[in-house]
Amino acid sequence: MKLLEERIRKDGVVKEGNILKVDSFLNHQMDVALFNAMGEEWKRLFADRPINKILTIEASGIAIAAIVAQHFNVPVVFAKKAQSVNLDGEMYTTKIESFTHKRTYDVIVSKKFLSSEDHILVIDDFLANGCAVDGLIDLIQSAGATVEGVGIAIEKGFQTGGKVLRDKGIRVESLAIIESMDASTGEIVFREQ
Ligand code: G4P
Repeated sequence: MKLLEERIRKDGVVKEGNILKVDSFLNHQMDVALFNAMGEEWKRLFADRPINKILTIEASGIAIAAIVAQHFNVPVVFAKKAQSVNLDGEMYTTKIESFTHKRTYDVIVSKKFLSSEDHILVIDDFLANGCAVDGLIDLIQSAGATVEGVGIAIEKGFQTGGKVLRDKGIRVESLAIIESMDASTGEIVFREQ
């Protein structure tokens, strides 16, 4: 998606350790008009899929998913990062080990909001090693629901997350895929798509 690539080039900041800061339009200050255009694009890309719910994970995914959901006219459920899991059977739970954040989270979704009837579009801001998306897919599978696809704003194509998901047959639509980036020059190379 050219609009997003141009915005990353203009306002993204490449940090050491292969981290891209996009705080000025995505992760802290948020450009809602851009999110809206992203929603329009995912709606076009997933037009053939019977999506009835969007699933994301807190924190940064929520705002994007909420704007995107207006294009699909479906509810958004966000998985919560829990301090401790109360194993009372009312929640689907999984563990997400984030390489990026160097921590492990318990992640939960109430059984009230995911069922075997659901056809889910997963939305998130970044795809790096894919631990967050793997966790969300685990929750969807626990509920017996169907993963219709994964929509990612920015995929770091030099990390393994996207390839692993696509190799499993999951449809991943990333609106910008970064092939490489250089913290010393600030240069960002996008994958042609
Ligand atoms: P991982 O397996 O390497 O941990 O990566 P994953 O694809 O699961 O992404 C994990 C989290 O790291 C995501 O946050 C994502 O937003 C963030 N992240 C990964 N790479 C970058 C990057 O280059 N820049 C920025 N700004 N964030 C990155 P999350 O779990 O959805 O939570 P939150 O950070 O939104 O609260």
